[in-house]
Amino acid sequence: MERPELLSIDEALSIDRKQVREYYKTYINPGLVNMMGLLDFDKQFVKADGVVVWDREGNRYLDFLGAYGALNLGHNPPKVIEAVQKVMEWPNLLQAALGTLVSALGHNLAQVLPGDLSRSFFCNSGAEAVEGALKLAKAASKKNKIVYCEGSFHGKSFGALSVTGREKYQRPFQPLLSGCEAVPFGDSFALEEKIRQQDVAAFILEPIQGEGGVIVPPQGYLKAVRELCTRYGVLLIFDEIQTGFGRTGAMFACEHEDVVPDIICLAKSLGGGVMPVGAYCTKPEIWDQAYGGMDKALLHTSTFGGNTWAAAAALAAINQIVEERLWEQARDKGDYMLKRLRELQQKYSMVKEVRGQGLLIGIEFEKPAGLIDKLTGGMINKLSEEYFGALVAGELQNKYRIITAYTLNNPNVIRLEPPLVVTKEQIDQVVDALEAIFKQYKGFMGIALAGGRTALGSIFKR
Ligand SMILES: Cc1ncc(COP(=O)(O)O)c(C=O)c1O
Repeated sequence: MERPELLSIDEALSIDRKQVREYYKTYINPGLVNMMGLLDFDKQFVKADGVVVWDREGNRYLDFLGAYGALNLGHNPPKVIEAVQKVMEWPNLLQAALGTLVSALGHNLAQVLPGDLSRSFFCNSGAEAVEGALKLAKAASKKNKIVYCEGSFHGKSFGALSVTGREKYQRPFQPLLSGCEAVPFGDSFALEEKIRQQDVAAFILEPIQGEGGVIVPPQGYLKAVRELCTRYGVLLIFDEIQTGFGRTGAMFACEHEDVVPDIICLAKSLGGGVMPVGAYCTKPEIWDQAYGGMDKALLHTSTFGGNTWAAAAALAAINQIVEERLWEQARDKGDYMLKRLRELQQKYSMVKEVRGQGLLIGIEFEKPAGLIDKLTGGMINKLSEEYFGALVAGELQNKYRIITAYTLNNPNVIRLEPPLVVTKEQIDQVVDALEAIFKQYKGFMGIALAGGRTALGSIFKR
């Protein structure tokens, strides 16, 4: 190979927005460039602190997306960065020894998790944590079937995708894992029907569905699910990748119903928003059934799992969440924001529902009805369903400098998931911006024709 022309780190830091777009088009994902450009979402952010980020031009934005739950501590939390700096001279990766920091992380996680979820496996992402949990369930139970929920989101690797209830993501990759079957979320009778043969290894669910559109199950559902899984010998897996670490007003969402799963999946804020860290944690006897003994000790591994920098970040993140009791802040501020948003729902008919728990909040929009939808043969309704959330998020970002997004499995819902260190003033700012948008535009067509003019043009061209 002749000497390749490579960018230095300093050159990389100084490339402009146009160049970033070009590199993405050529080297990464051209479709994504077009999608981001549609709503002018491809800003170049160069600085971040807590809830605030700045673009290259020095404009200040509020981040109410919070990396889908990975930024419970906000951007660049100083204590987490300090912890990583402390281990800079340690070996980061050295598999020929037991990791010192990861041993402490295992200890600390066991102290904050409910019940006897005391044995952990560390990896690098949410999807990987789910993969590990599914493998553990199969190996421990010696059964094959997995039951999951419609509308769920567990990640996009093969196993995680096989239990993710959205056809759009699954279809191009069929056949996926065999033996995976869906039940409606929130319906314990449907679950009982599926598992009564006692041939199911595990039931996996999110205690509150995030990407499904922030769906809170009926009160008592988690308890009922626990009881059924125990009765029929099914391992219960809670995916708390998005709901964990204080997000919903408790350290873990399963605590709202005082329920302990057999396996819990964690990621996102476990790394303090600084390092990629995932984990599944389980009870010792379940671990032993699957991986007990020297012979099985290396059946499931990960090169970077539990590396020193990641473990340092996770130790600091958990300590800060516990010391500052961030779940209480999430509960208080979440109640406040839900109350204010429900007042908007009373006033503006385009808001169909406001729902959530703690600082995991979704706003669902009403589909347009009446003449205009009839005239377009239902097309406006369909467009609204797919793009309403994105158009509102576009208005919020471009006019009010507030970052939000729609939920992946339900684009008619925008999510509000700010860092838990958000202030009430910042919450007011967002609610006021939403009110200004609802007041100005009377529904989907209003927003589409105004803020999203270019977006609408492109949508109609498809
Ligand atoms: C509940 C849940 N599980 C799993 C995942 C996948 O995590 P990752 O993107 O780190 O693979 C996500 C990501 O949004 C999630 O919300």
